Amino acid sequence: MREFTREKRFKTRSEAGTMAISATIAEILTAPRVVVLRGELGAGKTTLVKGWLSVLGAAGEEEVTSPTFTLVHQYHSLKGPVFHLDLYRLETEKELAALGFEEMAEEPGALVLVEWGEKFPSILERADAEVAMAHLEGDERSLWVRWRD
Ligand SMILES: Nc1ncnc2c1ncn2[C@@H]1O[C@H](COP(=O)(O)OP(=O)(O)O)[C@@H](O)[C@H]1O
Ligand SMILES: [Mg+2]
Repeated sequence: MREFTREKRFKTRSEAGTMAISATIAEILTAPRVVVLRGELGAGKTTLVKGWLSVLGAAGEEEVTSPTFTLVHQYHSLKGPVFHLDLYRLETEKELAALGFEEMAEEPGALVLVEWGEKFPSILERADAEVAMAHLEGDERSLWVRWRD
């Protein structure tokens, strides 16, 4: 796996705080195409994506739901398609291929945000960035963003 060369850490105390930080993260990660979102259930990965999509003008906050059952939701920003994946329920690389992961990542201008992407070596291999979220006390969350230039 290629190494990440840059990193930045954040801490938030509320859902709104995480949404606000997503603007900064979206600004840092303009080049990356595949971003792995790590963290236990309830860490705030989907919340971060909501904020991110709204910053990109790709979707309003209310329009974004978790792709828990559908596995992938597609949106559109000015730069290209944005795919939001939740692979919690996906088991094998074969299923991942059938879902069309490679094709999504290769679409011109695409941004692919993948919850539970770390389950799949093929995703880790092509990830340009990673955001690791952790649940601290109550509504506090930490975010650790790593990427390469
Ligand atoms: N600081 C915070 N950041 C994000 N979500 C938070 C925060 N504090 C509380 N929450 C709550 O935690 C839950 C996070 O859920 P979600 O974003 O779906 O997590 P995940 O996708 O990682 O499972 C939501 O119910 C949200 O309201
Ligand atoms: Mg989620």
